Amino acid sequence: MKFPASFFENHYRISPALLKKVHAYSNSQEAIDQYLFDCPFTHPSLSIYMNGERKDESAYFESYFESKTQSKRINVARLKNLLEEGASLIFNRMNAHSLPMAKICHDLQLDIQEKLHAHGYFSQKDQESLGFHWDTNDVFAVQLIGRKRWIIKKPTIEIPLPSQINGAEDKSPEDIYLDVVTEPGDVLYLPGGWWHTALPLHQPTFHLAIGVQTKKTMHFLDWIMKAKMPDLLECRTDADIFKNNKEKYTDQILQTLRSHLLDERLFVQFNQSFDSPAQHSGVLAFMSFALCVF
Ligand SMILES: [Fe+2]
Repeated sequence: MKFPASFFENHYRISPALLKKVHAYSNSQEAIDQYLFDCPFTHPSLSIYMNGERKDESAYFESYFESKTQSKRINVARLKNLLEEGASLIFNRMNAHSLPMAKICHDLQLDIQEKLHAHGYFSQKDQESLGFHWDTNDVFAVQLIGRKRWIIKKPTIEIPLPSQINGAEDKSPEDIYLDVVTEPGDVLYLPGGWWHTALPLHQPTFHLAIGVQTKKTMHFLDWIMKAKMPDLLECRTDADIFKNNKEKYTDQILQTLRSHLLDERLFVQFNQSFDSPAQHSGVLAFMSFALCVF
């Protein structure tokens, strides 16, 4: 992908941006078959939404017997009807199933060096799939087929953590920050916490939503608590003993915590404890090699 330098200076981890014509992935009608060929049409890899509600599996799966074993499979007629009514298909963790999708993630990873996961969204009518919501991670929406309208509003909680999920009672603000249409070649960048809804425009449309799992200070703190603080005797004593020695124990705990937070070597260890982007690159390089050889 070819992101302008101004994107990293002005928008990355700051505010949404529509990046026009920054990729050249195939947008032919045949491409959709290629993208979806290896994707399992089974739960939990596939989910279906319409007008903000998730459809129950029974609406599109059926049971069947094979070698006396009961299994589930997609009911093509029911799936077709749901698509005609305006449903959206969501292919979860698509980068784990589809080589073209894994390659797109790999390209983005070269630019941002963070852990990624990707979900594919396909629809052909004009109903919104999820309605207004926000995600805890940053998202790069890579438009591959057709067009899609995005309405974006400012966050009500800035830089949310994965544990601070979007509650059903949360209401989006009135004011619209951005109202744009993505086309093949475009990427829409959405930092975590920004409200958004994606509206199909009565035509087949497919985008890959790539979530970025960034490390937060809270993760470092959590890692220290689990990896280093158990070494301190004061942390292992019974809570009743702590209660009777609060002043002394609190001073000792805060002093140790402070020295860990300021220790550069620990920060390096913390970084290494996350999956390295290089691992994913290595797997992809191996896959490319295997495809060439066999
Ligand atoms: Fe989203």
